[in-house]
Amino acid sequence: MIYLDFAASTPLLPSVKKELFRAFEEEYSNPSSAHKLGRSSAEKIESVRDKIADSIGAYKSEIIFTSGASESNNLAIKGYVLANQKKGRHIVTSSIEHKCILSICHFLEKEYEYEITYISPQKNGIIDPQDIISAMREDTVLVSIMHVNNELGSIQPIAAIGQACFERDIKFHVDAAQSYKKIPIDVDELNIDMLSISAHKIYGPKGIGALYIRDLRETRIQPIIHGADQEYGLRGGTLATPLILGFGVAVGDQTIEDNLDGVSKINSLLRTKVIEIGGVINSPDTNYIPHILNFRLSNFDASHFVANSDFLCSQGSACSSMNIEMSYVLREIGLNFEEAQSSIRFSFNKFDSNLLNFYQ
Ligand SMILES: Cc1ncc(COP(=O)(O)O)c(C=O)c1O
Repeated sequence: MIYLDFAASTPLLPSVKKELFRAFEEEYSNPSSAHKLGRSSAEKIESVRDKIADSIGAYKSEIIFTSGASESNNLAIKGYVLANQKKGRHIVTSSIEHKCILSICHFLEKEYEYEITYISPQKNGIIDPQDIISAMREDTVLVSIMHVNNELGSIQPIAAIGQACFERDIKFHVDAAQSYKKIPIDVDELNIDMLSISAHKIYGPKGIGALYIRDLRETRIQPIIHGADQEYGLRGGTLATPLILGFGVAVGDQTIEDNLDGVSKINSLLRTKVIEIGGVINSPDTNYIPHILNFRLSNFDASHFVANSDFLCSQGSACSSMNIEMSYVLREIGLNFEEAQSSIRFSFNKFDSNLLNFYQ
């Protein structure tokens, strides 16, 4: 079997697995405890916080641990807008965000009467920053745009959107679940105010992630999980020491960065093959990460292939690929039902030397 679903989740790095086993065995105390063992775990957790902050050009005091990108997105969007309702009730996002962002927006529309503008991408899956700017209003409190689309691999123009938000004093949230460690991120250069990341997309454990919040102490955020003052009072619950320490090992590892050339080679070989056999590439031709390739073939039953093939891949995103309904991302870039049903997403990373040999 060849695993081609790294955008859905990744296996653990051996070094992450080793740290997880060690930490589950040894770091069993509560990291909030005042005794030596608790303090020692807390120190290790703080060094992971530091490492994450460093990797995105932030301060350690601006990082909150969460259970993953979904929770980070919830805390960023609901937490910020509900605590700042007086500033306005309009949000700008895109129509190809991860399902979790769209669900949060639908919730805010329904329960709190927020107005949301959903910007459609261009045919190549890339959002025109001018469309975002045109949608901004006096009462816009937040813009939330993903860095890389999980179905297409398209890279969004985050710097231009960040600049426009900065000039208008609108908070800018970025879901970086698919881009973190694949594209360098500097939150200051890109004018990002909040950023969501997840460990299981970078060879870390499932169930742990982080949210960056610029000037966290001066920013009004309403907690989603109320608790005993952990994480600056923004996210209650005993910190998951082993998961955080495993996350830290994944953050510090260079496998993803080192493997970029190999992944790019796989992507271009596969693009050539798909076109040779009469297929069509759904991913963009420029501004994409090579780790994700979405394409379609004629007379191809993608869902049958996904369910039965030894190539372990997805039809759209993993979260929605069990649904019969068509991918809204593919619909948004102009595909019809048949084209979407014959489309497939391969996503690559480290353990792909087999695949490279296969195509050469
Ligand atoms: C763009 C994007 N956002 C959010 C998520 C959700 O991440 P998590 O599984 O860590 O909650 C995913 C995972 O599929 C994703 O690709």
